[in-house]
Formats: sequence, C-alpha cells, structure tokens
Amino acid sequence: MDKDLTVTVRPEEPGDQDAVRRVVLDAFGDDGERVADLVDALTADGSRRVSLVAEVDGKVCGHVQLSRSWIDARERLVEVLVLSPLSVAPDRQGQGIGTTLVRAAVEAAAADRAPALFLEGSPDFYGARGFESGASRGFLRPSVRIPEPAFQVVVLDAHEDWMTGALVYCEAFWTHDCIGLRDPLLADLEARFL
Ligand SMILES: CC(C)(COP(=O)(O)OP(=O)(O)OC[C@H]1O[C@@H](n2cnc3c(N)ncnc32)[C@H](O)[C@@H]1OP(=O)(O)O)[C@@H](O)C(=O)NCCC(=O)NCCS
Repeated sequence: MDKDLTVTVRPEEPGDQDAVRRVVLDAFGDDGERVADLVDALTADGSRRVSLVAEVDGKVCGHVQLSRSWIDARERLVEVLVLSPLSVAPDRQGQGIGTTLVRAAVEAAAADRAPALFLEGSPDFYGARGFESGASRGFLRPSVRIPEPAFQVVVLDAHEDWMTGALVYCEAFWTHDCIGLRDPLLADLEARFL
C-alpha cells in the first residue's frame, strides 16, 4: 500500500451502484459488460452476501463481491462463499487497493461464519494473499475449464472435515458464462503453463 494513500473499505450502499458498475466496466475492459451484468444478477437474485467498496478521496475506486455457492458434500449441500469479481479502477491499480479488498473480503467471510471462500484467479496474486489450491484441500472444481492452479480457497474456522466435495456455483455464474475460461484462451494458457 502506498504510504500516502488513505483507502476506506466499507459495505456498498444503494447510492454506490453506478460507481461500482463503472469500476467493474473499466477494470475488466472487453469483459466488462458481462462481469458487470454478473454483479447485478447476483444482487437481484439474492445470491450476494457481501459487497464492499474501496474509496480514495471520497471516490469509489474498488469493489469486491462475495456470493453464495455450495460444496456438494456427501451428507448435504454446504453453503460457502465465492469471491467474484474483484475490481480496481485502472488508474488506481498497483497501489495496494486490491490487496486491501481481498483482506477485507476474507475477514467478512469469516465474520459471516462461511466454512470456506473460493475464487478463480492468479495463484501468484491470491496465493500471496492467503489463498491456497482448492485441489490440495480436497475440493473439486466446478468445471474442467478452470485451470487447476486457478481454483483457490481459504478454509475458515467454521469448516468441518466432512465439508468436502465439488464446488457448485450458483446459477448466475452459469447464465452469465463467468466460470473458467473458453478456447482459444484456455488452450493457449494450457499450452503455456500446464
Ligand atoms: C487484479 C486487481 C484486482 C489487483 O488490484 P490492485 O489494486 O492493482 O492490486 P495491488 O496493488 O494490491 O497488488 C498489485 C499486484 O497485483 C498484480 N496484478 C495486477 N493485475 C493483475 C491481474 N490482472 N492478475 C493478476 N495479478 C495482477 C500485480 O502484478 C501486483 O503483484 P505483486 O504484489 O506480486 O507485485 C486489479 O489489477 C484489477 O482490477 N484488474 C482487472 C480485473 C481483474 O483481473 N480482477 C481479478 C480477477 S480474478
């Protein structure tokens, strides 16, 4: 975090909706519309559990959302949280705001008594911020289109040993095609890294 930067992280409020959409659109570029529509759909269908914004000088410049999904355990479905999306305005990237939002998101998931917080993303970025491989903790990916190293989790205090199995995303992730990667990007990444 830049030492001169004061970042405030707080729950999203109703008046933040346009600013959040702007940050998501700008952060995700060509994918922006799809991801911003995912944010709206998760909110509209009641799947959203936590939405946090980061402010600098009174301006929203970052956003992270946690939504419910499930582990399909042998005994029963277990509600867990998925972190998606995480967005920082391009002119504010590389200043520690994403790291601050990830930390706040993990704290919020623990406070919510979620057994685990899952996400898809760079193992370099998230691994350095407390996440570990979902597979190494015995969880199964919800799609083979998620490269194994990208499937990550923080297992929280509310987790019990029997809560293991495949992650099942809630519906909006599927209807907005926001799970894993598709060819040719997927094939390209596999050729380069796997
Ligand atoms: C990824 C993102 C949220 C990081 O936020 P940030 O405020 O720039 O992050 P911080 O300043 O706290 O940390 C900077 C780190 O992020 C890394 N980073 C920046 N963009 C990244 C990206 N698209 N994927 C992975 N890592 C990224 C930097 O290399 C740096 O790594 P280091 O700490 O190992 O040197 C932000 O760049 C962003 O909104 N990107 C576009 C949307 C996106 O890809 N979201 C994540 C989807 S999983």
